[in-house]
Amino acid sequence: MARTAVEDGITTMVATPHYWEGMFTPTAQEVRRAVGDLQDRLVDEDIPLKLLPGQEVMMGTKVPERLRQGDLLTLGDGGDYLLIELPVFDIPMCTEQVLFEVMSLGVTPILAHPEKSAGIQQDPALLARIVERGCLVQMDADSLARGRWGGTARFAARLLKAGLVHLIASDGHSSRQRPPLISPYASRAARITSPKLVEEMTGGLPARIVGPARVTISAAGGLGESAPAS
Ligand SMILES: [Fe+2]
Repeated sequence: MARTAVEDGITTMVATPHYWEGMFTPTAQEVRRAVGDLQDRLVDEDIPLKLLPGQEVMMGTKVPERLRQGDLLTLGDGGDYLLIELPVFDIPMCTEQVLFEVMSLGVTPILAHPEKSAGIQQDPALLARIVERGCLVQMDADSLARGRWGGTARFAARLLKAGLVHLIASDGHSSRQRPPLISPYASRAARITSPKLVEEMTGGLPARIVGPARVTISAAGGLGESAPAS
């Protein structure tokens, strides 16, 4: 997987194992250790990929409590951004309340691949509302692959055009199934938006998210950056 990512031009990868309450619950410490071990191995094998720890947390009522307790890992372990995914079908009733509570803890939620959520496809206004309140949206690059995810490619393009996507990521799961690839889909995203914006979504903004500066969203929906915390 690491070799595939490097060949695709990826230099830094945030490893985000699933955290699903009651099913997969790797502790923050376990993820930190596993990512550290894997990074050592990449160095040993001369694979130039920087790994950072994170989690992809399933939406649920316990998310704010788990975050408060330190059980969840923010992206890059920086304390500022939490990657949260929605179930494939229905939107849980708690969704907006949980996002609000996460934000009230000083953490910005990043919604993972909402374009693949049937609930969001049926109610895109909900996503617009969530973004307006300060959440970021991360789209899977391969959502733009026509025919692979049903009608998702068309919906993903619509969200891109509407300015409801801030980040494009690989959602890599293995070297064969859902490999960590972005570049095959970036040109399509660039045709829908612009090459400059896609560069920002795949490089500039992710680098700032795991870097020292906070990312802010202006009222007009544009992305800005505030000074690093001292
Ligand atoms: Fe996911």
